[in-house]
Amino acid sequence: VSAGNPFQDPGSVRELYRSARRQQLRTGALMAAKVRGADVGDVLVQLARRHAVPRPRLLEVGGGRGGTMARLAAELSPVRAVALDGSPALLAALRARAGAAVETVLGDFHALPFPAGGFDLVVAAFCLYHSPAPERVCAQLARCLAPGGVALLVTKSLDSYAALDRLVAASGADPGASGSASLYASFHSGNVVDVATGALAPLELRHDANAFRFGSAADAADYAATVPKYRNCGDPRRLAQAFEAVWPQDGLTLRSTVSYLAAARR
Ligand SMILES: C[S@@+](CC[C@H](N)C(=O)[O-])C[C@H]1O[C@@H](n2cnc3c(N)ncnc32)[C@H](O)[C@@H]1O
Repeated sequence: VSAGNPFQDPGSVRELYRSARRQQLRTGALMAAKVRGADVGDVLVQLARRHAVPRPRLLEVGGGRGGTMARLAAELSPVRAVALDGSPALLAALRARAGAAVETVLGDFHALPFPAGGFDLVVAAFCLYHSPAPERVCAQLARCLAPGGVALLVTKSLDSYAALDRLVAASGADPGASGSASLYASFHSGNVVDVATGALAPLELRHDANAFRFGSAADAADYAATVPKYRNCGDPRRLAQAFEAVWPQDGLTLRSTVSYLAAARR
């Protein structure tokens, strides 16, 4: 465990994903501000169609509230679909969203409880940065793939949302925020190929520029209050007041690169 990075600390990850409502607010606050960037589901469907067999046996790890699984299940008509996640609350939300045909498994992606070679397509979107050793998870994913099987991995760039760190620091809400390490430190756009390569053979890497525009201090505070690395910033109303004093005249734009790697079983 990397000391100090809440995205890699099991206790803080458990707290972050304790409730589906909390995760919905966090994602919703960011997605409402999105002004640039491909739809993640669109890209995953495209990559799956290009690299995986039709009607794959599908496994998604770290599936969260199930948006990706619902989309992949609808578009790829998998003969079997399994979602594994470490959060009971998010698994329940996934079941409700993706439908009863999707099997849900509570577990840890470092030790996948599946026999070798049982899946044609495995997906890990926006979750391997919660591992201090994502190469171990890649090895687990590779083990679960049948010959010809494909993994789709999605993550973000190290510099994601850096302008928010600067705003939080300038507002005085958390003066140390601009020096804080990226939440994506263990698995990001810059190391995704290196991390995957031990267990998987890269097929296609795609980087997609995303931008998020916040028109008001209150909107930015709703998202910032859910970022676990900021200290004493959990109350969105107090945070919005702090932001008001330093709010940029033409609003705040945050940037992030979303990176997709399609990789084959070796
Ligand atoms: C940011 S959410 C991503 C959700 C979804 N994949 C998406 O694209 O929106 C990260 C997910 O990874 C899960 N997770 C984190 N660490 C995990 C672990 N060690 N094993 C299994 N799931 C884990 C969390 O419970 C959460 O649902």
